[in-house]
Amino acid sequence: MIVITAPEQMHEWLHSYRGGKSIGFVPTMGALHAGHEVLLQQAQHENDITVLSIFVNPTQFNVQSDFEAYPRTTERDLRIAEHHDVDVVYMPETDRMYPEGWRIFIEPGTAADPLEGLGRPGHFRGVATIVTKLFNTVQPTRAYFGKKDYQQLAVIRQMVSELNFDISVVGVETVRHDDGLAMSSRNIRLSDVQRSTAPVIHQALVSAKNLVDAGETSPDVVINTMTSRLAAADGCRIEYIEIVRQTDLQTISTINCPSVICIAVWFDEVRLIDNIEIEPPQR
Ligand code: PAF
Repeated sequence: MIVITAPEQMHEWLHSYRGGKSIGFVPTMGALHAGHEVLLQQAQHENDITVLSIFVNPTQFNVQSDFEAYPRTTERDLRIAEHHDVDVVYMPETDRMYPEGWRIFIEPGTAADPLEGLGRPGHFRGVATIVTKLFNTVQPTRAYFGKKDYQQLAVIRQMVSELNFDISVVGVETVRHDDGLAMSSRNIRLSDVQRSTAPVIHQALVSAKNLVDAGETSPDVVINTMTSRLAAADGCRIEYIEIVRQTDLQTISTINCPSVICIAVWFDEVRLIDNIEIEPPQR
């Protein structure tokens, strides 16, 4: 008889007992773009089997009309999945994920509180709930998430750790268009003029990182510089620019630890987010 006293030992024992193949999992809401393709490639490269899920999750939308307007491009998505040799595409029906009478939610941890959590109440509760349901069903070895949704990645890492899921969460670098705009399913909703202005988000982030690399340690100075630049960009309305610690997304008063600059802006009805990781200046 074996006595095990820690969750990770239990996981280790189960792995060796079951043997078997590793499963790389890429959860998505469809409308696949090059950013998702990079996740699929990495999952493929690092695992025996790749599973892609496509499910537009109603519980993570604050506004019903956003849920309804979310692009659904299933046939195209399936062609992309095929192209990347995905082994299984999991596309559950909404009433199988949320059947009549269903009421259990996963309450996310502290990583859900700042930034997006302030402007989109309940969003991460919906994300944590659906990701838990998908994890329980797919039972992946590794799950892949883009760093563009930096806070989502932090919320899921915290959830996996606090709920003792036996899953490695892999954060993958943001994929960008040639002009720097982060790939996002929302970009197609930008007008031509907005699309040509939107790269200013990444430009402002890179300039801010350069400022920090050159020795600036004041978050206020960095944020003010970014604000001036973005305020001058036609049609761009800033929702927030924040500099937070990478580990727990808490606001900092001096840039003296690995941090991340997070930004959310609007172009009319289209909300875009992006971020850049920064290191404290070398002394
Ligand atoms: O990032 C997304 O596409 C979604 O939030 C996710 C993780 C698939 C949950 O619905």
